Amino acid sequence: MAETTDDAAVARLIAWFGAEGADLPWRRTRDRYRILVAETQLQATQVARVAPRYERWVARWPTPAALAAAPLGDVLAEWQGLGYPRRARNLHQTAARIAAEGWPPADRLQDLPGVGAYTAAAIRCFADGEAVLPVDTNVRRVLARRFPGGWPGTPEGEGWAVGQALMDLGRTVCSARAPRCDTGCPLRRGCPAADAGVVAEVTPRARRQSPYAGSMRQRRGAILRALAAGERPELGRDPDAAASLLADGLVARRGARLVPVGAP
Ligand code: ADE
Repeated sequence: MAETTDDAAVARLIAWFGAEGADLPWRRTRDRYRILVAETQLQATQVARVAPRYERWVARWPTPAALAAAPLGDVLAEWQGLGYPRRARNLHQTAARIAAEGWPPADRLQDLPGVGAYTAAAIRCFADGEAVLPVDTNVRRVLARRFPGGWPGTPEGEGWAVGQALMDLGRTVCSARAPRCDTGCPLRRGCPAADAGVVAEVTPRARRQSPYAGSMRQRRGAILRALAAGERPELGRDPDAAASLLADGLVARRGARLVPVGAP
């Protein structure tokens, strides 16, 4: 009985996504590289801000080979403002690996630099169409509230739609703070958290970010921003942040100044 109900809920979710799902640029492709770029950008930044940046990125570097051929300094400058620049460096390294060796099989995607369980699942789901759920913070929340006993199963051929639908539902309806259970949720019927009136309580914690202001992340960001703007900041301006970026291979040094990596 519960099984049938949950299967019907999944069908409603897919229908809802067909009618209400967002038209996002990474939903118009099944190309693994493009999905990798989008999902890497989406880990650091919100959908609305990623969309134009994603489009610019894939227009500039449409293939792994094109990205691999770019100097890392250009790649980091293009990433500017998206946060967590190591992700851009990993993307660049992954592109080089793929350009040289081709893509690994689906069960070895995590061998690629920067590709963890989430990104591997996202490539399998959104590029390959496998019935694998990429579970980010939004999806984790939807599952915890609506399917505490576990995901009931993906209908044949619906892996992509289910994955995208759960992302949208978590972002726009089953949100952490202001869930719209009774005005827009296709999974409201049979939702254990809503029936028990505990939706807000069933909110797995997002991983807490430490404050940005005054942090090493901010200080590193200031240097990378200056480099992307064409400046050549003095190492002595913030020696600890400079050392940290140098250690990560995200900047290079020329005398007493920092320069982009791979700069001529
Ligand atoms: N957040 C992470 N991946 C996403 C996707 N494919 N669509 C919308 N939001 C996302």
